[in-house]
Amino acid sequence: MLRTHTCGELRPAHSGQQVTLTGWVQRSRDLGGMTFIDLRDRYGITQLVFNMETHPDLCEKARKLGREYVVSATGVVSERSNKNPRIPTGEIEIMVVELSVLNPSAVPPFTIEENTDGGDELRMKYRYLDLRRNPVKKNMELRHRMALETRKYLDFQGFLEIETPFLIKSTPEGARDFVVPSRMNPGQFYALPQSPQTFKQLLMVAGYDRYFQIVRCFRDEDLRADRQPEFTQIDCEMSFVTQEDVLNTFEGLAKSLFREVKGLETGNFPRMSYEDAMRLYGSDKPDLRFGMQFVDFTGLAKGHGFQVFDDAELVAGINAKGCASYSRKQTDELTEFVKKPQIGAKGLIYIRFNEDGTVKSSVDKFFDENTLKLWGEQAEAQPGDLLLVLAGDTLKTRKALNELRLEMGNRLGLRDPDIFKPLWVTDFPLLEWDEETRRFYAMHHPFTSPKPEDVALLDTDPGKVRANAYDMVINGVEIGGGSIRIHDRKLQQKMFKTLGFSDEDAQEQFGFLMNAFEYGAPPHGGIALGFDRLVALFGGSDSIRDYIAFPKNNAGRDVMIDSPARIAREQLDELRIKIVD
Ligand code: AMO
Repeated sequence: MLRTHTCGELRPAHSGQQVTLTGWVQRSRDLGGMTFIDLRDRYGITQLVFNMETHPDLCEKARKLGREYVVSATGVVSERSNKNPRIPTGEIEIMVVELSVLNPSAVPPFTIEENTDGGDELRMKYRYLDLRRNPVKKNMELRHRMALETRKYLDFQGFLEIETPFLIKSTPEGARDFVVPSRMNPGQFYALPQSPQTFKQLLMVAGYDRYFQIVRCFRDEDLRADRQPEFTQIDCEMSFVTQEDVLNTFEGLAKSLFREVKGLETGNFPRMSYEDAMRLYGSDKPDLRFGMQFVDFTGLAKGHGFQVFDDAELVAGINAKGCASYSRKQTDELTEFVKKPQIGAKGLIYIRFNEDGTVKSSVDKFFDENTLKLWGEQAEAQPGDLLLVLAGDTLKTRKALNELRLEMGNRLGLRDPDIFKPLWVTDFPLLEWDEETRRFYAMHHPFTSPKPEDVALLDTDPGKVRANAYDMVINGVEIGGGSIRIHDRKLQQKMFKTLGFSDEDAQEQFGFLMNAFEYGAPPHGGIALGFDRLVALFGGSDSIRDYIAFPKNNAGRDVMIDSPARIAREQLDELRIKIVD
């Protein structure tokens, strides 16, 4: 190597040794008699010292170095008199005797330090410079460590990592496919996998009874902080298992990651049915770092002449502890919050349980103090608490109250990124009715098995059928989802029918899978965890972009390589593709 040590490893014990370091000039300070340079590499920062008196030529050379020049410096390790406790190498410095510039650098468009002055777009355009920054580098290291620990755990559990193809046929995972034209088969297209779902099931038919893959998936969907068009799953499948076996195995993986990577013991993950999650939190991914469960006031609310309540399907609220002292301005802010179009409530009712024992509400006209005290009992409200109540259609009210609950959690500082509250949400409905297209859609995907006791309902009341499906949720984030699969051709055919596929369409799209089911398909089930989301969660961030080396922006663009882009006319001709504007 061109170096004897890295910029992160020298300590006072190395004093007196001659060393050679290589790296990038982070900054230089010229103090006349002395020039100091902070030299950075992947491992840390070491201070180089150039002495005008003993090495005037070298010192001149050092003064000319610009930011991000790549240099090699040889010198003697010396214990500093003025130590810097903020960095691990802060007790030493290098008295340089030889310096060479390995490559100069243009002036970088933003500062490459802990906190940069570069905006988002600029940092993405020069992502290779952003990646030099310590916080981003730490994220990459975390990602590597988690992938490694995942492989270790799953290997120990007897899983085989098997790669599945990227050029496939569409899998109906719910999003749009990215497609790739085939030159050799004009007019035909591959689809990039939204997940390896069908392939992992075929691997079970093949007898590889424990499969996993840390694998890229592609989905053409609207992007958000926790969604990228290409993202990574820890994808797994097991044969001869019950739901319980799958949950235990992957709870084990999550616990092992918490233990090995964060040094945390999380305890057993609680289980909650989808129905309870919706009833108590209005969400299938409840954030359990704080309570504030929904309280149903429907019974108490009706029949007091207040039209909003009398017309409502559901009147429900949350108890914001200690918030009775909220000012008018604060409650107005909350009302504005729930009335935002994306939340969609018509208004917010509040009931204050004052410290002096009195009760004041925004519906005092309809409810006397004694009645409101009953509401307080229902919500276990203490003096000092504030009840926030919404009313209307059940689904919409729950959805809005969920947003309000999370907002209150944020305002009250109850969503600490260093606390982790995992759970399993189970017993999802198998199907979801879409009013617009007037048909059922698979809530998870069409290969998920109904609960055996609910199969008969497929003919009579499909919306009521529950699935053997489960999600792993941590801190309000859907980390992963999976199910026990259908392994019987007839049931799979029935499922496609319920989803509105004709026999021909089902055969054309999924014939390969249903045929495979004719050749001894074992009972099987699995799960996929969103790896980017898991890493971001461990890193304490909501945004997965910071944990992906080369992410896309919210418009799905890579602004560094400027993609997507047009392709040459000849390429289009070869693919027999005509662009119509
Ligand atoms: P599902 O579609 O629930 O299941 O995906 C599994 C997990 O992948 C993550 N995820 C994403 N992460 C980042 N960006 C995205 N666009 C994105 N989409 C999904 C989520 C999600 O929980 N084949 C099934 C799994 C199975 O049944 O075994 C599947 O893909 O964390």
